[in-house]
Amino acid sequence: EKLPVYVLENKQEGARIIAGIIAGVIKEKQARGEMAVLGLATGSSPVKVYRELVRLHHEEELSFKNVITFNLDEYFPMSPDSHKSYVHFMYKHLFNHIDIDPANVHIPDGTLKIDQVAEFCNAYEDKIRACGGIDIQLLGIGRSGHIGFNEPGATVNSQTRLVKLDPITIADAIKDFGSEEAVPHRAITMGIDTILSARKIVLAGWGKSKSPILKKMIEGPVTPEVPASFLQMHEDVTVYLDEAATSEF
Ligand code: GLP
Repeated sequence: EKLPVYVLENKQEGARIIAGIIAGVIKEKQARGEMAVLGLATGSSPVKVYRELVRLHHEEELSFKNVITFNLDEYFPMSPDSHKSYVHFMYKHLFNHIDIDPANVHIPDGTLKIDQVAEFCNAYEDKIRACGGIDIQLLGIGRSGHIGFNEPGATVNSQTRLVKLDPITIADAIKDFGSEEAVPHRAITMGIDTILSARKIVLAGWGKSKSPILKKMIEGPVTPEVPASFLQMHEDVTVYLDEAATSEF
């Protein structure tokens, strides 16, 4: 194995461990009087991680007042008011339930005009750097091999940009959007380079459907055909899986 992997009994257990690691980063920074910079993800995989962070906020006084967040991606075009938006997802699952300052929340803007996108993306990168870089990046993985929305063909030096979604990703999004025509075919996503610049990376992979692509990510060659395989180039990545996710290893 080319990446460190922990196999947990179930995703609840995995989510508890990942949330504990994120909480540890927040508290460590708090103790030093510094802001913690979190890179956050959407999709079904992180939902229980966010639920656990909310529990830690309510039951163990974990504060997010010193936390800055940058989300990986957003569909394009997409209104933040849409229930399908990643903005809606993040507030519903996390931000509405914690004491984070909304001014410290950053999510790519799906409402831009096309000629505003490049400038927005450069500014997104600048803001991450201005905050001192991402302390910990949470990731899921798509069946296409994407991290964020870095689909097959993404290069190692890619940064935040507008991308086209892979047919597999569009097919998987039909369950959220109702029909293929309703799925946005583009997104704004952090790049591979943006993700690899995080100091620490944790990836959650749950369920049988992810097993084949996880095997390629963990054991296969580093290749743009499996963008998640670029994680093998990072020195502090940990992969958390449930039993089902290892079924095809
Ligand atoms: C989504 C996100 C990815 C996520 C992936 C897997 O569309 N853009 O960041 O990791 O697809 O989603 P899920 O966790 O629901 O399987």
